[in-house]
Amino acid sequence: MSEVRHTPVMLEETLAYLNLKNGMTVVDCTLGLGGHALNICEKIAPRGRLIGIDKDEESLAVAKKKLKNFSKNCVFVHDDFRNFDKVLDQSNANGADAVLFDLGVSSFQLDNPARGFSIKNEGPLDMRMDRKSFISAYDLLNNLTEEELSSILWRFGQERFSHRLAHSFVEARDKAPLSSTKQLAELVMRAMPPKARFQRIHPATRTFQALRIAVNRELDALEEALRKSALYLNKGGRICVISFHSLEDKIVKENFKELFKTQRFRLVFKKILRPSEEEIQNNVRSRSAKMRVIERVK
Ligand SMILES: C[S@@+](CC[C@H](N)C(=O)[O-])C[C@H]1O[C@@H](n2cnc3c(N)ncnc32)[C@H](O)[C@@H]1O
Repeated sequence: MSEVRHTPVMLEETLAYLNLKNGMTVVDCTLGLGGHALNICEKIAPRGRLIGIDKDEESLAVAKKKLKNFSKNCVFVHDDFRNFDKVLDQSNANGADAVLFDLGVSSFQLDNPARGFSIKNEGPLDMRMDRKSFISAYDLLNNLTEEELSSILWRFGQERFSHRLAHSFVEARDKAPLSSTKQLAELVMRAMPPKARFQRIHPATRTFQALRIAVNRELDALEEALRKSALYLNKGGRICVISFHSLEDKIVKENFKELFKTQRFRLVFKKILRPSEEEIQNNVRSRSAKMRVIERVK
C-alpha cells in the first residue's frame, strides 16, 4: 500500500472561485483522497451536500474516512464522472451549485508501484484508475497493432517518435510480453534517438501519459462530463476545472467557449489561472496545473 497522501492543488483558489456557501450542493467529480472535499464541506456544512465521485475504490475508501465528520453531508459514488447525469439523478440532487474536476491521478495512485502509473517505480503495466475495468496498459501494449500503438502515442502523448517507439514495442513483445513499467521506460530510452534521450523530463513521460489516457479513456470522459455537468448546473453555479496537460486544457477551453456562446454562461476569468510560485515550490506536482472556471448566469 502506498503512503496515503496527496496535497490538494490550488486549494485556496478552488474554494474562492467555487463561491461556496452553507447549504450548497457540490459535486466533486474527482474526489481522490478528499483533500479538496474536506475543505469544501467545511464551507457548505451544516446544510450543504457533497456528492463525491471517483472511479478508484481505494481512493474512495480513504476519502470516506477523511470526511467522517461530514458523513451526513456526503454521498460517495464509485463511478466514472462521464456518468454525471446518472449519478445526480440517483442522488436525488436538485441540480448542482458547484462542480469540481481536479483531473488526472493523485499522488496516492502515482506513488503506489502496484498501480503501474509511475516511470520511477518498478510495477506491472496496469494504469487502470478503476481496478474493476477490463483493459490495462499491459493489454494495449501486448495486443494492439503497431499502427494503433503509434496512434495512441501520437494522439495522447504528442510523441514525435511514435512510429519508432511503437515499432520497438512490437519487436520486443515478439520475444516476450511487455510486462513492467521499468521495462517499458528502458525500451523507450533505447528506442529514442541519442539526442532525445537526455531531456528535462524522462523520455518515457509522454508514453506513460498516452497509455494512461488510453486505458482510462480520459479525454472522452472529460468531454462527456463537462457537457453533462453544464446541463445540471443551477443558475449562479460554477464549474471549476484543474487540468494538468494541454490535451485536457484544450477540451476544457473549447467546451467553455461553446457554453459562453449560448449567453447562459460567463467565463469567471478569461485566461487560465496558474498555481503561485510558493505553491509550486511546496508541491512540485502542482507545476503544470491550469484552472478554468465558468458560471451559469441565466
Ligand atoms: C488529482 S486526483 C484528485 C485529488 C483530490 N482533489 C484530493 O484533493 O484528494 C484525481 C482523482 O480523480 C479520479 N478520476 C480521474 N478520472 C476520473 C473519471 N473519469 N471518473 C471518476 N474519477 C476519476 C482519479 O481516480 C483520482 O482519484
